[in-house]
Amino acid sequence: MSTSLKGIAVVTGASSGIGAIYADRLARRGHDLILVARSQEKLAEVAKRIAGTTGRVVNVVAADLNNKADLNRIETLLATDSGITMLVNNAGVGAVAPLLESDTDAMEEMIALNVTALTRLTYAVVPAFVARGGGTIISISSAVAIAPEILNGVYGGTKAFVLALSLSLHKELADKNVRIQAVLPGATATNFWDAAGGSVKQ
Ligand SMILES: NC(=O)c1ccc[n+]([C@@H]2O[C@H](COP(=O)([O-])OP(=O)(O)OC[C@H]3O[C@@H](n4cnc5c(N)ncnc54)[C@H](OP(=O)(O)O)[C@@H]3O)[C@@H](O)[C@H]2O)c1
Repeated sequence: MSTSLKGIAVVTGASSGIGAIYADRLARRGHDLILVARSQEKLAEVAKRIAGTTGRVVNVVAADLNNKADLNRIETLLATDSGITMLVNNAGVGAVAPLLESDTDAMEEMIALNVTALTRLTYAVVPAFVARGGGTIISISSAVAIAPEILNGVYGGTKAFVLALSLSLHKELADKNVRIQAVLPGATATNFWDAAGGSVKQ
């Protein structure tokens, strides 16, 4: 149960980078938090820091969103915890290599996280938000959603999906008090670039 009038924001990919910053800023604005990522240790560090500076209630759930059982656990949480008022779909991975230098399995894993997991989490929470009279979903897309030639094309495709889904839901849910926002960051210095096999300066 949330102790905050603003309720609980669930932030995926909150163990580092953009997700950890969203978590911090949302806590400063009065949200309690549930932080999701694979690394329990990093999540615990982020949670301790944010709880210490803001006094908000910060819980963590270690989950690999590419693991079906873990993903289902987060879906259930989103569908059943009535204190949740916001979902930040931030967890995602990228790639910089062109098709001829890319591994097909890595592409499939990227689609699973950036598209399938994000879609399942969104589908889990929307009916709950509608039943509770409202809520907010922020999904981290990317500038490459509209400029896919800059990085790996599958990565750009996953982020175009996030933008298209968000635009559609924005219209679909307009009269249900469910606010939808897609964010298209440009190159940002995070762990993303090491994991994607490139440099933020590229
Ligand atoms: N950095 C940029 O230039 C940039 C630009 C535009 C958009 N974006 C988008 O911003 C979002 C955040 O990326 P970032 O730049 O902040 O990179 P980051 O620091 O690498 O953050 C990625 C987050 O996702 C989590 N994650 C990765 N795989 C996961 C999985 N299978 N299950 C659960 N969590 C997983 C990571 O935590 P664990 O490793 O602990 O699981 C981490 O918390 C991504 O969607 C990315 O596409 C980034």
